[in-house]
Amino acid sequence: MALVNDNYLKLPGSYLFSDIARKVNEFKAANPAANIIRLGIGDVTKPLPKACIEAMHKAVDEMADSTTFRGYGPEQGYDFLVNAIVENDYKALGLDIQTDEVFVSDGSKSDTGNIGDILGTDNVVAITDPVYPVYVDTNVMAGRSGDLGTDGKWSKIVYLPCTEENNFVPSLPTSKVDIVYLCYPNNPTGTTLTKDQLKVWVDYALANKVLILFDSAYEAFITEDNVPHSIYEIEGAKKVAVEFRSFSKTAGFTGTRCAYTVIPKELIAYTSKGEEIQLNKLWNRRHTTKFNGVPYIIQRAAEACYSPEGKKQVRETIEYYLNNAKIIREGLSAQGLKVYGGVNSPYIWVKTPNGMTSWEFFDYLLNELNIVGTPGLGFGPSGEGYLRLTAFGSLENTKEAISRLKNIKL
Ligand code: MLT
Repeated sequence: MALVNDNYLKLPGSYLFSDIARKVNEFKAANPAANIIRLGIGDVTKPLPKACIEAMHKAVDEMADSTTFRGYGPEQGYDFLVNAIVENDYKALGLDIQTDEVFVSDGSKSDTGNIGDILGTDNVVAITDPVYPVYVDTNVMAGRSGDLGTDGKWSKIVYLPCTEENNFVPSLPTSKVDIVYLCYPNNPTGTTLTKDQLKVWVDYALANKVLILFDSAYEAFITEDNVPHSIYEIEGAKKVAVEFRSFSKTAGFTGTRCAYTVIPKELIAYTSKGEEIQLNKLWNRRHTTKFNGVPYIIQRAAEACYSPEGKKQVRETIEYYLNNAKIIREGLSAQGLKVYGGVNSPYIWVKTPNGMTSWEFFDYLLNELNIVGTPGLGFGPSGEGYLRLTAFGSLENTKEAISRLKNIKL
């Protein structure tokens, strides 16, 4: 008799974005003529940079020739890509990350979800609230969450509220935690931590032997000087932090899948007997066992993001989305709505008007204005009273959405 992992039975029926897609599809079926503008899921719309496409074409041709054909590659990523990552994303910032500390993968969603494989189930996990649902759901699956209360909180997870009251800066936990997930620039609020604010977390982690899982998937959107591009800019962070980075939002790889995770060799965790162990070694063991590498063609495309033309094209796309973010921010503010984020991020976090719940505001936007957002509550209890919009639409749709929002009845 095969037993299932009972922890899965604790999960809500479906993943947030599947839930929203179902609602939108139902609305579309009932209103086939509606011109729906989707600013819900954080999925990109601009095509891959030309440099990536050219690199992919070339790599496809190599796969057609027995002298250049590639089968399995190194699970951790080809040297050409890992070297480009180390040079451009770390050395260029003056940071010393070694090639064997980088693990190329098919996405930060996978990596932030899978990292729990190498971490004990007794760890106490802290999350900022609201939060990217993957961190919570995967800890539920692993059995670290306890039970879901009527307040929408899991009993064993420590919630660190991020709301307008604390300017979206989480306070340090007041009880003992072992692991904390930080995502900056933040999904969903679009807010950031300055170097000094992030240092508070690194110092806390060093002093309390806490592991920081730092999701930096939106790093490319940073525009302000005091916002760090890597957690390793903070002294001591290599001893306490894993960093997740992605080509998805940076260069449009949501459908092509490529990301990487950095696990410094200095980063130590403990066995249940209290012995020190390098997380890098354990992750390498997991990665080589469960993963056979990102396709060669895709890794060549990712490498092309770092060529001079690639860098320029990536930057143009990021600027395009940041301009959309500005249009949304300014358009909503002009309507009297309170908005956060959108400066170092493709996400705009909107306070719902007239005390509406986040689902009420979601329904209102969908039904009345045919605009899809993401209700804040879907990201956690502290997301109630907010709604997330993304800047990943086309400029035309973004402008159209803002002009429809002028009809909003406040
Ligand atoms: C989101 O909308 O939050 C994104 O889809 C996150 C992701 O990349 O999985």
